[in-house]
Formats: sequence, C-alpha cells, structure tokens
Amino acid sequence: MRASHRILDDEPKILDDSIAASLLGDEFDRYKTLVRCFPFSALIRANFIMRSRYAEDRLAESLRDGVGQYVLLGAGLDTFAYRQPEWTGSLRIFEVDYPATQTWKREKLAAANIPIPTNVTFVPVDFERISLPQGLDAAGLNFHVPTFFSSLGVTQYLTEDAFDHALKFVLSLPPRSEVVFSYVLAGSALSLAGRVGVAVVAAISAARGEPWLTRFSPQPLVGKLKSMGFSEVKPFSADAANSRYFQGRRDGLRVSRIEQMMSATV
Ligand SMILES: C[S@@+](CC[C@H](N)C(=O)[O-])C[C@H]1O[C@@H](n2cnc3c(N)ncnc32)[C@H](O)[C@@H]1O
Repeated sequence: MRASHRILDDEPKILDDSIAASLLGDEFDRYKTLVRCFPFSALIRANFIMRSRYAEDRLAESLRDGVGQYVLLGAGLDTFAYRQPEWTGSLRIFEVDYPATQTWKREKLAAANIPIPTNVTFVPVDFERISLPQGLDAAGLNFHVPTFFSSLGVTQYLTEDAFDHALKFVLSLPPRSEVVFSYVLAGSALSLAGRVGVAVVAAISAARGEPWLTRFSPQPLVGKLKSMGFSEVKPFSADAANSRYFQGRRDGLRVSRIEQMMSATV
C-alpha cells in the first residue's frame, strides 16, 4: 500500500516511502494490478499511509522531548528504519515481529540490497507467548530511557490480554514514553455499511488464519488507558486525520472511519 501510494496517488504525498517498492522487488508488479482492481483499495491505502505518517510525526515530536528509542510492535514491512530522516539522530530502533515474519523481511532486505543501519535491532518475538520486557531486555533496550512505541495494524490480531501486557510495559518505562497505535472500531461505533465492510475484511483475514480478536470504541478506550495510568491520552479520529492530512486533494484520497489512531503518554 505504501509503495502504491507513490505511483497511484497525486502530490502531495502523505508519506514518501522510497523503500517499499524495492523491498517488494518483482512482487510489486503483481501487487500493483491487485491494488488497482481491489474495491475500496484507495480507502484502505489511505489508512495505511496515514497511520505511518501520524506515527512518524508523533515520533519526531517525542524526540524533541527527549525520547531515545523507538520500538515498532509488529513491524511487518515497515520501512522507517531504512529511510531514516536526519532528525532521527542517535535514536535506537527495535523492530519486534514474529520470528518467521522477521526472517522473511530480512531476506527481502538482503535481496533488495538494502543495508540494515547500525542503530536497528531485530527482536524476533511472538508477544502473545514471550513477554515483551524479556524479549526487549535480551535485545538491549534500555529501560531507563524514554521510549516511543508504535503498533500499526496490529491490535486487531492480538488478544486484549496480550495488548494490555504491552501497554503495561510501556507504562513501566520513564515519563514521556509514548505509544501510538491503530485499532479497528467495534461494531457499536460503526454505521451499518462500516459493520458490513469490517465483517468482510475480518472474514478474509480469518480465512487466512489471522482472525481479528480485539476491537475498541474510542471513548471506552480512552477511559481504559487513563485508568491504567497514562498521563495523556489523545484519540486521533478519522475526521481529524482527514482534516490534517487529506484536505483539498484533487484525487479525493481520504481515510475510512473503520480504523482509528490513539496516542498515550506515560
Ligand atoms: C498487518 S501487519 C502490519 C505491519 C506494519 N506495522 C505496518 O503498518 O505495515 C501486522 C503485523 O503484526 C505482526 N504480529 C501480529 N501478531 C503478532 C504477535 N503476537 N507477535 C509478534 N508480531 C505480531 C505480524 O507478523 C505483522 O507483521
């Protein structure tokens, strides 16, 4: 989706991902056709690029507040680490993912001759099974440094219990640590069309062996994060995303309400 944005959507780009296409290699040609034909593909693509853009904007801000480490929970084919802007400075980056997914990504990086920067550490962990503190400790995360976490397109695949453990770990880190994550809206927060759309995408995902386990409504989620102990909790709705990033576009690109963003600061 991030690679397609570069070739299918008008300027200005919401996210300029110069790495994604080369990471996909030959597969991108096949994928481009699929993306062009798939119904609602632009809506889904808009959510993918917005959530990366929003997380990277929040990360840039948090670095100014003294954050020194970036942990990507369920990094997938995220390319931030391989196109680091100058403002990244001495940031340390930890990519957490299933061991098999991470091996696949590393093979793709090697095949595309994309070097792994020295500030990047891979953390092969299934965080439903292995505790994040344990995995990240073994990988060298410094628990005394304010740390920024992103979890993009991941929450729905986790049990709420595993997600809560991840949130509690963020809370155990120094003040100014922050987590930015996307989540799929619960049925009660969706229109009928939204409920049908979610049911279709969730069924496709379940058929591929990746059922959607956890969804939230914005206000109860804000309450949950506050009662867990986060000092600042900021929902970033689809409307807010459309007015911040997508206003006045000729191509009409805009995000759907199905997936929303949240930021919570320790
Ligand atoms: C839809 S992809 C999103 C990838 C990336 N964050 C992005 O925005 O493109 C979901 C990612 O979460 C990872 N994931 C899901 N459950 C996980 C778990 N229990 N432990 C580790 N990684 C997990 C998957 O392997 C996959 O890389």
